[in-house]
Amino acid sequence: MQWSFLFLSLAATSTALIRFQCSQLVTQRLDPLVTPGMIPSPHVHQIVGGNSFNATMDPKKDMPGESDCTTCQMADDFSNYWTAVLYFKARNGTYKRVRQLANSGFDGAAGGGMTVYYMQDALYDTKQPSKVSAFQPGFRMFIGNVQARTMDEAARFRQLTYTCLETPATRDHETIALPKKVCPAGIMSSLRFPNCWDGKNLDSPDHLSHMSYPSSGTFESGGPCPSTHPVRTSQVMFEVIWDTRPFNNPDDWPLDGSQPFVWSFGDATGYANHADYVFGWKDDSLQKILDTPCYVNCDTARTQSIAEMNKCAQKAVVEEDIDGWLTELPGGHQAEFAPTPEKR
Ligand SMILES: *[C@@H]1O[C@H](CO)[C@@H](O)[C@H](O)[C@H]1NC(C)=O
Ligand SMILES: *[C@@H]1O[C@H](CO)[C@@H](O)[C@H](O)[C@H]1NC(C)=O
Repeated sequence: MQWSFLFLSLAATSTALIRFQCSQLVTQRLDPLVTPGMIPSPHVHQIVGGNSFNATMDPKKDMPGESDCTTCQMADDFSNYWTAVLYFKARNGTYKRVRQLANSGFDGAAGGGMTVYYMQDALYDTKQPSKVSAFQPGFRMFIGNVQARTMDEAARFRQLTYTCLETPATRDHETIALPKKVCPAGIMSSLRFPNCWDGKNLDSPDHLSHMSYPSSGTFESGGPCPSTHPVRTSQVMFEVIWDTRPFNNPDDWPLDGSQPFVWSFGDATGYANHADYVFGWKDDSLQKILDTPCYVNCDTARTQSIAEMNKCAQKAVVEEDIDGWLTELPGGHQAEFAPTPEKR
């Protein structure tokens, strides 16, 4: 594949960026960040990372110490990363969960999982020259707007995108809305978190306002952090590949020409794309990696095999059918294909 070739060919250069796969830990209705303690949480998530993930995760606890394994390739990374789950809505109105696919080069990762990046600078900047801070124990953040159903509401989150995969290597033409046409190799969602921290708060009531995107320009252009959020952190990015291939027959698609995919909380526009992050790297292992020049394959990072990652899978606490065909999305949601007045 083009991408694995790109990364292999750059592996020897003197740069600092890490990219790694995490297998699925569990797929279920829990959300220790937005609805701590609620079992089940309002909608289905797919979660990767350390196995101390639970309905309640006390920021004061030592998370790495609580986990005894991680589904991530980086053996010292007990963080949790999660997103909502995509469903296909059939013509008869029932829903089927869309499975995930591992990125090229990570075949065998259980449940597909997702690819995680920590970047100092733009992905294609092979020098990665900026000095950045790792996150502190107890740090967590959320990005996106679950209520968004219009382009206006999503405009603030242009770093949350979809790529219609013509082939597994397609990386251009990102959109803010779900793709409106058949994507032969699946749909990739790319979720880029903000990279400027207020330097004080490990979390905030909306789980977002302690972080900010750069004040001018973009992350990619190395825009400066605003004075309210002066600490430049690593940019965390997820890539999640949704295996829409079983649903690509146009005869199964809606007769009105709309696309049939819907997020587990009902959004079928795609504008409410969102992601959650709970930091859990062991000791200063992340800062060490960030401070040592490397690109993707970093000697400073302790890694484990895909077989070891897969062994860490967790049993769901919430027992319910999340796969389908379901008459409603778990939690009682129905697809919203257009903005409803009360959502505006
Ligand atoms: C999750 O929390 C419950 C108590 O709320 C506990 O019994 C269970 O062992 C925890 N699971 C994990 C994997 O930590
Ligand atoms: C609804 O459609 C799906 C996809 O065609 C099919 O597998 C399922 O059996 C149908 N369910 C009912 C109740 O007709």
